[in-house]
Amino acid sequence: MAYNLLKGKKGIIFGALDENSIAWKVAERAKKEGAEFTLTNAPIAMRMGAINKLAEATGSTIIPADATSLEDLDNLFTKSMETLGGKLDFILHSIGMSPNVRKGKEYGDLNYEWFLKTIDISGLSFHKVMQVAEKKDAMNEWGSIVALTYIAAQRTFPDYSDMAEAKSVLESIARSYGYRFAKLKKVRVNTISQSPTVTTAGKGISGFNAFLDFAERQSPLGNASAEECADYVITMFSDLTKKVTMQNLFHDGGFSSTGITNELMEKLSE
Ligand code: NAI
Repeated sequence: MAYNLLKGKKGIIFGALDENSIAWKVAERAKKEGAEFTLTNAPIAMRMGAINKLAEATGSTIIPADATSLEDLDNLFTKSMETLGGKLDFILHSIGMSPNVRKGKEYGDLNYEWFLKTIDISGLSFHKVMQVAEKKDAMNEWGSIVALTYIAAQRTFPDYSDMAEAKSVLESIARSYGYRFAKLKKVRVNTISQSPTVTTAGKGISGFNAFLDFAERQSPLGNASAEECADYVITMFSDLTKKVTMQNLFHDGGFSSTGITNELMEKLSE
């Protein structure tokens, strides 16, 4: 069911890698709600080519950009505004990668070069995106910027490793830039803290299936799917949430507020 929530709105969607990606579902949903947008991902991720299918289905242009490169971001914003014929109303930052996690480094044996890369890709890139948007005056008033995050920013989940630090940085940037962008342009900035979800990034965390099962039992409403996350992101881009800013919004079926569930108690007493 579509409600025309994004009719006439323009934006940029970062991070659609394949059809499991949360950004992919957001793009499909945004299209149904009447938005026009450009799609972007790191040049290296383009090689898989799946994004072309999404671009075709949503009538979008793909503009490659490494989200850690200010030069790439500058080009992305210039070309997006040219292609879409005006300034932007929404941006989705759906980016995460840790070389330490990917290469199986223990938390007590982190490679610090890689740690900095994790922070740059998964945290600082959010600041870079907004700084470039501000400098290019790319946002319309009452625009909305959303990044995706995970509860490991607040609580320890051992296998999440240095991604936890990156997510803390990301969430802090949402507050700091949220203040700035509100004053500058009435633009709101939030993070959505999503349930574990079966995607390329999600599956990179070791023991992911056990983790998914635990979260399902620990969430009164069950885990939130990628499609449900997309629904939430759409409401955050719509005019129905104009005064929500500088928040970390949990979209996790109640996981973050639950001590323990009966389901988990039963499982543990088996
Ligand atoms: P995904 O693997 O489909 O998406 C991650 C994206 O980041 C990919 O498209 C990848 O190409 C992109 N990326 C990596 N390095 C980049 C760079 N230098 N420049 C530009 N893009 C780059 O996985 P998913 O799950 O859709 O991830 C999206 C977001 O959701 C991430 O921020 C992730 O941390 C977050 N998230 C995921 C959860 C999960 O369990 N899958 C749970 C909570 C949050």
